[in-house]
Amino acid sequence: MRLILLGPPGAGKGTQAHRLVERHGIPQLSTGDMLRAAVAAGTPVGQRAKAVMDAGKLVSDDIVNAIVSERLDQPDCSRGFILDGYPRTLMQADTTETMLADKGMELSCVIEIKVNDDVLVDRIAGRYTCANCGMGYHDENLKPAKDGICDHCGSTEFKRRADDNADTVRTRLQAYYKETSPLLGYYYAKGLLKGVDGMGEIDAVTEEIEALLAGL
Ligand code: AP5
Repeated sequence: MRLILLGPPGAGKGTQAHRLVERHGIPQLSTGDMLRAAVAAGTPVGQRAKAVMDAGKLVSDDIVNAIVSERLDQPDCSRGFILDGYPRTLMQADTTETMLADKGMELSCVIEIKVNDDVLVDRIAGRYTCANCGMGYHDENLKPAKDGICDHCGSTEFKRRADDNADTVRTRLQAYYKETSPLLGYYYAKGLLKGVDGMGEIDAVTEEIEALLAGL
């Protein structure tokens, strides 16, 4: 299964991708996570990306295309993958098509997680993750079962993203509507686009995605 998750910042792409990884045993390829790892490691890519990400703008196509192409060559992608946050521009979408064809891979479908803008700032402002395993939580919507302890790995260390503030979220939303939303028409025209209601409870969204995948 080779999937793309599309949706604005805070739609729930990462949350649902984590669940799909556990259920289907295929990796999540999050360009946001890969770029944040490069920033944390201080690599040349990270140094170029940091200021752009902090401002909520998009990192250049050549950087993200290269990191995704390299990641797709890893053995764990041979059974499938979930692209989370990539492609994000029409140029990236065209590159994805060429790249997958060159690697003998075909997309199964593109899932749009549909949400209203007014919930996005709250979702992002309340988001935090386990510093050890990356499991995602939310101050109100998704708390660990035991306060301050990660359900997944038991760690007591959590972190928040540098770009998760109201001003940056607005810039990220503008980038989504300007650069990424044209991909909806792009994939619709290819017969690959499916949509789920991202306004429901997290479990309900997961079930809707699973039902959709079962019908492929
Ligand atoms: P990236 O890390 O991809 O961020 P994003 O697209 O802005 O998406 P988010 O991670 O913010 O949201 P999400 O949809 O994953 O939501 P989540 O599941 O966490 O990119 C960051 C930056 O990197 C970009 O701004 C750009 O600079 C750069 N970048 C990355 N990829 C790039 C590319 N391809 N090209 C160029 N630049 C790139 O959910 C959010 C919160 O809501 C969580 O707390 C969660 O618990 C909660 N939640 C989720 N679902 C629900 C629900 N159904 N109900 C209630 N709460 C929910």
